[in-house]
Amino acid sequence: MIKENWLKKGYVEETVDKTLDLKKEIAQLCKEKNAIILGHYYQSDEIQEIAHFIGDSLALAQWAAKTDADIIVMCGVHFMGETAKILCPKKKVLIPDLNAGCSLADSCPAEEFAEFVKAHPDHTVISYVNTSAAVKAVTDVVVTSTNAKQVVESFPKDEKIIFGPDRNLGNYINSITGRDMLLWDGACHVHEKFSIEKIIEIKKQYPNAAILVHPECKGTVAKLADCIGSTAGLLKYAIASDKKDFIVATESGILYEMRNKCPEKNFIPAPPEDSGCACNECGFMRLNTLEKLYLTLKYEWPEVAVAPEIAEKAIKPIQKMLEISAKARL
Ligand code: 13P
Ligand code: SF4
Repeated sequence: MIKENWLKKGYVEETVDKTLDLKKEIAQLCKEKNAIILGHYYQSDEIQEIAHFIGDSLALAQWAAKTDADIIVMCGVHFMGETAKILCPKKKVLIPDLNAGCSLADSCPAEEFAEFVKAHPDHTVISYVNTSAAVKAVTDVVVTSTNAKQVVESFPKDEKIIFGPDRNLGNYINSITGRDMLLWDGACHVHEKFSIEKIIEIKKQYPNAAILVHPECKGTVAKLADCIGSTAGLLKYAIASDKKDFIVATESGILYEMRNKCPEKNFIPAPPEDSGCACNECGFMRLNTLEKLYLTLKYEWPEVAVAPEIAEKAIKPIQKMLEISAKARL
């Protein structure tokens, strides 16, 4: 029985026995229930350590689409859980904390976006995966930062396009494709906060460092970059590069896999503005903890739900994205 306060809180609240080996218990529950844990690169180290698969938004959607597990536990944020549920309507999709939202998705309320789309009936609508299912339902094709350029370029040069909700990613894609897409004015509060001054300061200490920047960052930060890319793109660049030092301007969770894959290299998180912190974390992503993950598996709650009438529409642009990506083997 789900207690009333769980519903109010959005996660299972129960005192967990401190003597339990949570990693072992989680592995056991996954085995018993045929459950798979998908983790985004922005999760805490301990969650990435035990996830069956870790990846960027595109890879998590691709995994959800092909898994034969009965239960998918999405260790990421809510829109990632929704995407998995839309792709696998018959599976149980769980998320350790239902409050794990996304400021970028929130910057694009579905009703306002639908009005914007209605006002431009001759435009094709391309939406970043960081959106609610309801926004995807009024979209022609979804993109992630890994495939945005390729999806945009799959349309003729003179195609009129609405791109939402991230203005920074939209401006970047416009600049590298020569397009003039109409942009929704949204942004991610984590990526908007990187400090140019602090990055330049670190670069003085490590003059040979490569600067890695996620395209959700402001254009002024992107101008400093040696590589602009999705989490998976930045990781790939770091692995292939013969540089030793890297300044990383994205959520600092990605450093776990960078250090794992390249133990001999030095990864320095880029700090945010106006803060004493040395790195930049997404508070939504970090709501998922090992304890909540254990309780989620134990009680099979909270479950991600998408209204069938929304899911029916939202699946089309997601599948279109997966088809375009599969052609390019992204
Ligand atoms: P990636 O698709 O690059 O992993 O990005 C997800 C995200 O939420 C970035 O803030
Ligand atoms: Fe959303 Fe930004 Fe967090 Fe990514 S880092 S999940 S875009 S709030």
